Order: sequence, then C-alpha cells, then structure tokens
Amino acid sequence: MKIYSLVTLGLTVCVQALSLDINDKDSICEAAAAVANGQWNYYEGLKYGGTVGMFTYPYYWWHAGEAFGGLLDFYTFCQPDNKTLFDLLFQGMYYQRGEGNNYIPANQSMTEGNDDQGVWGLAIMGAVERNFTDPEDVSWLELTQAIYNTMNSRWDPSTCGGGLRWQIFTWNSGYDYKNAISNGCLFHIAARLARYTGNITYAETANKVWDWMENDVKLIFEDTTPTGKKEMRIYDGTKIANNCGIITRTKWSYTYGVFMSGCAYMYNFTSKNGSSEESEKWLVRTNEILEASAFFFNNTIMTEMSCAPGNHCNNDQRSFRSLFSRGLALTAVMAPSTYDTIRPLIESSAQAAAQSCSGGTDGVTCGENWSADGWDTKFGLGEQMSALEVINGLLGSTYDVAPPYTSTNGGSSRSNPNAGLDTKIVTNRNILTIAQKDKAGAGVLTALLLLAIIGGSIWMVI
Ligand SMILES: *[C@@H]1O[C@H](CO)[C@@H](O)[C@H](O)[C@H]1NC(C)=O
Ligand SMILES: *[C@@H]1O[C@H](CO)[C@@H](O)[C@H](O)[C@H]1NC(C)=O
Ligand SMILES: *[C@@H]1O[C@H](CO)[C@@H](O)[C@H](O)[C@H]1NC(C)=O
Ligand SMILES: *[C@@H]1O[C@H](CO)[C@@H](O)[C@H](O)[C@H]1NC(C)=O
Ligand SMILES: *[C@@H]1O[C@H](CO)[C@@H](O)[C@H](O)[C@H]1NC(C)=O
Ligand SMILES: *[C@@H]1O[C@H](CO)[C@@H](O)[C@H](O)[C@H]1NC(C)=O
Ligand SMILES: *[C@@H]1O[C@H](CO)[C@@H](O)[C@H](O)[C@H]1NC(C)=O
Ligand SMILES: *[C@@H]1O[C@H](CO)[C@@H](O)[C@H](O)[C@H]1NC(C)=O
Repeated sequence: MKIYSLVTLGLTVCVQALSLDINDKDSICEAAAAVANGQWNYYEGLKYGGTVGMFTYPYYWWHAGEAFGGLLDFYTFCQPDNKTLFDLLFQGMYYQRGEGNNYIPANQSMTEGNDDQGVWGLAIMGAVERNFTDPEDVSWLELTQAIYNTMNSRWDPSTCGGGLRWQIFTWNSGYDYKNAISNGCLFHIAARLARYTGNITYAETANKVWDWMENDVKLIFEDTTPTGKKEMRIYDGTKIANNCGIITRTKWSYTYGVFMSGCAYMYNFTSKNGSSEESEKWLVRTNEILEASAFFFNNTIMTEMSCAPGNHCNNDQRSFRSLFSRGLALTAVMAPSTYDTIRPLIESSAQAAAQSCSGGTDGVTCGENWSADGWDTKFGLGEQMSALEVINGLLGSTYDVAPPYTSTNGGSSRSNPNAGLDTKIVTNRNILTIAQKDKAGAGVLTALLLLAIIGGSIWMVI
C-alpha cells in the first residue's frame, strides 16, 4: 500500500469517508460491510495456497480468533442470509479447532498462550449464543466447553495461590508470568457458559478466578485517586517470582471489556431467581469497571490510552478496542442499567471510527486515531477489527437484534461438559504428546522443541 502518495491526495480521500447514520440499521450495516470487506483483504484463506482461518503476516493465530468474533456478530446482525459469508466463517472457525477439538492446534504451539486460546473461546462462545449452525461432528458448545476445560485444568495453585499463567507451554517466553487477560478469558467464558447452560459449576469457576485476581494477587485492585475517588484497576499481570508481588500496572481496554462483560453475564445469571446479594455483587463490579474504563479521548472517543497518545501501539494493541467494544455492547444487554452510560460512548466512538475509515486504495481503510479528522494514515487488521466492532456495537447493545441465546431460549448447540478432557492429544497441564498420525507435523515440532531445549532461545532462531 502506498501511503505517501495517498497522503498527498488527502482531500480526495477524505471525501470518500464512510457515511453512518447511527439510528438507521441499513446505514450501520452498510458501513460495517465496508469495514468488514477491508478486513477480509488481510485473510489468508482467500489467497491461493493460504491457510483457512488465518490472517496474513504479521498477524498471529490469536488475531484470527479476535477477527472471527467480530465478523460473526456482523453476519448475525446484518447478513444472516449471506451464504458466502457463512461459509467463510464456518470454515475458518472449524478449521482452526485443533487436533483435539480444543483450539490448541499443534502447529501453533510456538505462539499460543492461554489468552490466545481464550480469545478464540470468545468467538466460539459467540457462535453458540448466536445459534450459528453446528458442525456435524462436534458442536460449537462442545468446542467452547473444551476450551474452558483445558484452560481450567491449567489452573496453577503451585504458585501465587492459583491463577493461569500467560503461556500454555513451558518453552514459550512468558511462562513465568500470570496475566489478567488469560484469567479474564477463563472468567468470561465461565460466566457465559453458566448463563447459557444454567450449570452452576461454571459460575463457581468465575468466582474462583475473580477472588484470586482481587484477593490473592491484587491484579484487580480498588485504588483511591488523588481526589479521593475509588477506582477499579485491572493491571496487566505479574511475574511469578516474589510470589507475584511485583505487578506490571499497564491497563488495556480489552482486559476491562472482558472482565466487565463477564461480570454483567454473572449479574444476569445470578438474577434469574430474582434479585439477591450475589447478583447485586456482580452489578456493583460491572459498574465499577465501567466507571474506571477511561479509554475515551475527551470522554467521547475510544482510544487505547496506554500506547496511542505516545504513538507506540503494536499490532496487538492496535486491535484491543475490538474486544473492548464487544464487551461494552454485551454489558449493555446483560446489565440493562448500564445502557444509558454505554450507549453514548459507542455512538460517539462509532461515528468517529467511521469517519476515520476513509483511507487506502479502497477508500475504506480505517485509521488508528478516531479523533483525527479523517484517516490518520495508519492501517492494519487491528484498525479494521476495532472499527468493525464499535460499529457492530450500535446494534449489539440494543434489542433490535436478539440478545445472546441460552440453551433454553433460542440456542441449539449440543452440550458435552467433559469435552476436551479425554482427547488423544493431551494439552492439559502443559503436556504435549503428538498422535502417531500427525507424523510430519510432529517431526517439525520435535525439531523445534529440541532447538528450544538445546538453544534455550528459540526466538533468535525463528
Ligand atoms: C496448521 O496445520 C494445518 C493442518 O494440519 C495446516 O493445514 C495449516 O496450514 C497449518 N497452519 C499453519 C499456520 O501453519
Ligand atoms: C456476502 O459476503 C461476502 C463476503 O464477505 C461479500 O463479498 C458479499 O458482498 C456479501 N453479499 C452480500 C449480498 O452482501
Ligand atoms: C436458583 O435457586 C435454586 C433453588 O434455590 C438454586 O438451586 C439455583 O442454583 C439458583 N440459581 C442461581 C442462578 O442462583
Ligand atoms: C470534547 O467533547 C465535547 C462533547 O462532549 C465536544 O463538544 C468537544 O468538541 C470535544 N473536544 C474535542 C477536542 O474533541
Ligand atoms: C488524535 O488526533 C487528535 C486531533 O488531531 C489529537 O488532538 C490527538 O492528540 C490525537 N490522539 C492521539 C492518541 O494521537
Ligand atoms: C438479562 O439479560 C436479558 C437479555 O438476555 C435481559 O432482557 C434481562 O433484563 C437481563 N436481566 C436483568 C436482571 O437485568
Ligand atoms: C437455532 O438453530 C436450530 C437448528 O438449526 C433451529 O432449529 C432453531 O430454530 C434456531 N433458533 C432460533 C432462535 O433461530
Ligand atoms: C456441569 O458442569 C460440570 C463442569 O464441567 C460438569 O462436571 C457437570 O457434569 C455439569 N453438570 C451438568 C448437569 O451438565
């Protein structure tokens, strides 16, 4: 893409900005479709010889999980009769499920952490809740339960009183770190499974994760600001050394989004018997996180505050607003009392995002700084995903579209509570054994493993 020549065409490009009427579903869907088309330009699965379910380098496997979650919502809200789109989503999400039907494909073992598997889990849970057609051999619910079961089995009480490590595999850098987003994904998926299935065991897990985060390691921390105001903080993570005593205090929008909406699901689930102390607890937490979600420039336009102002967001960070947007919309639906606060933030951010989607050769490439006038010359999968999901949020936060289904109300995905616990390829508890039939892949993997063990620094080799 030739940015510089386009910059000189600034005026022409700005004229082509996406039009968006936030009160008109057709207009919203048209804008979303344009952004989604821009997103598919990064899709490997449409390229000759490209891998189904993957996006182009430098985007990793986890980005694909993030992307499919937003595209699935777009399909559900805007184009449920589009068979081409259905096939793209179905094939991509199904293809990457891994040999053990648990979203731990062997050939991602050099990159995949608990948060990566978890972000795929958010997308597959979305398929369950949107009643997306099940594959024949394995259901989306079963796949989500496998993600949940394998993640939960990695709960690690041997250090810091519990929690998930960042990494699944010992050889990956970050195995000695326990981070908020990995634990947030387990918390969030557990909360959604509890509501969807009505099975209280999942809610107990959600409680376990929250309590560990807040009481054991204080990654969730209620601080007092200089003005005396209480503010909920959700920090990035902590190294296991020093009994998780040294905390990395960076705050990311997606972590807030994942925890906030998880709390809203817990609120919704525990309200089923009428209001109670338990549901009140979750509503308070939902509100506290929402109030502390200071990821809006001028309090109106969604901005990744820990990196955007310094202009140093990396490819991961440039995508975080997609999951934050999804979390905001789900929160507004699961805890309707938050709607009046959330709706204006989604509206102003969606409008700002749409007017930033005026760049590139296609004229609908989205920028990073939505507060800037028009396209800011930044581009990437993260920018497209973030814009798509905040525009999705205009629909997802309302009852114009069906709220996420449950097993007794609209959903049809088959349940298998023990999924993921009995596969031949056991990737629970950080053990990886390769099935015989997968010899070629296993050979490569073994070679890489050997390099990792001998060299100790596989990253230099790669
Ligand atoms: C991972 O493995 C699958 C199936 O074994 C293969 O088709 C795919 O190309 C591989 N993906 C990557 C990113 O290497
Ligand atoms: C259906 O989806 C495909 C893939 O996203 C898109 O190219 C096509 O324009 C869509 N069709 C309609 C009628 O919107
Ligand atoms: C609702 O109440 C029943 C009966 O007391 C109890 O078994 C169930 O766990 C409760 N459900 C929730 C979501 O609290
Ligand atoms: C900040 O937001 C207010 C509305 O809340 C708006 O009137 C004002 O123009 C905005 N300022 C900037 C610099 O965007
Ligand atoms: C985005 O653009 C606005 C308007 O030009 C500017 O005030 C702001 O500092 C920029 N924000 C970032 C994060 O670069
Ligand atoms: C729970 O969520 C549903 C949407 O699925 C909503 O209609 C309902 O009002 C929520 N329950 C409570 C107690 O807020
Ligand atoms: C969900 O999908 C099943 C199977 O395709 C279908 O029978 C059911 O009507 C769908 N539910 C809704 C609410 O559309
Ligand atoms: C509830 O979930 C737990 C944990 O996965 C499982 O062991 C149990 O069998 C489930 N109960 C029902 C009734 O499905």
